[in-house]
Amino acid sequence: MTARPHPPGPSDRGAPDGDPCGTGAGTGTGPTAPRPSTRRPGRIVVLASGAGSTLAALLAAHDDPAWGAHVVAVVSDRPGAGALDVARSAGVPTAVVAMADFPDRLAWDRALADAVGVFGPDLVVLAGFMRLVGPPLLESYAGRMLNTHPALLPAFPGAHAVRDALAHGVRVTGCSLIVVDAGVDSGPIVAQVPVPVLDDDDEASLHERIKVAERVMLVETVGRVARDGLTVEGRHARVGRRFR
Ligand code: GRF
Repeated sequence: MTARPHPPGPSDRGAPDGDPCGTGAGTGTGPTAPRPSTRRPGRIVVLASGAGSTLAALLAAHDDPAWGAHVVAVVSDRPGAGALDVARSAGVPTAVVAMADFPDRLAWDRALADAVGVFGPDLVVLAGFMRLVGPPLLESYAGRMLNTHPALLPAFPGAHAVRDALAHGVRVTGCSLIVVDAGVDSGPIVAQVPVPVLDDDDEASLHERIKVAERVMLVETVGRVARDGLTVEGRHARVGRRFR
């Protein structure tokens, strides 16, 4: 199956200046093709639970029209997440959907999907979001929801990837950007960057170096996805409209 991951979101209906996230300058030809200078950037909603250094990297890129995307909102499950402060400092709207405020998991899942949907994203990026997302989000953003993970998947999925890699004794680990599916860090891989493990690494030092690589990978790849689209076929994800 070839997924068309970036159909215009609700807010894009009738947009006069071309469709964002993948059908613009990179693929359009002929007299009706949108010009890069007028193409509206793809709308990104970022989900984050942590300090927000990964979000900060995206926000550092999003004022550049050439990047092709714009972070329109940050949604967190943690009211005290540093990522919310990072967003507010950049003037980006925020929303909090805390698990404790809902009677059960499905109610939270629905509220999370609603909170994201308000902003009409073309692409949803999980940048340090420490919860699994449920069917409401998965169904609404199938093939256009990406997650960054601090290991070379499929090795070391889950919440303790850096600790697990160190404990296993690997000499090289890294980071992965994947398409979110219903599993735990199991979706098709969009990008990966290796990071060597040093003899004196502990979890904190290794994670810091991975996060440096992760930020570069994320900004570079999200920009490419926003500009050129993403095609998913089975386990294979490729940036761009054409697959193989
Ligand atoms: C990243 O390594 C991400 O992969 C992991 O948490 C880190 C995010 O850190 N799940 P930050 O909150 O963006 O600083």
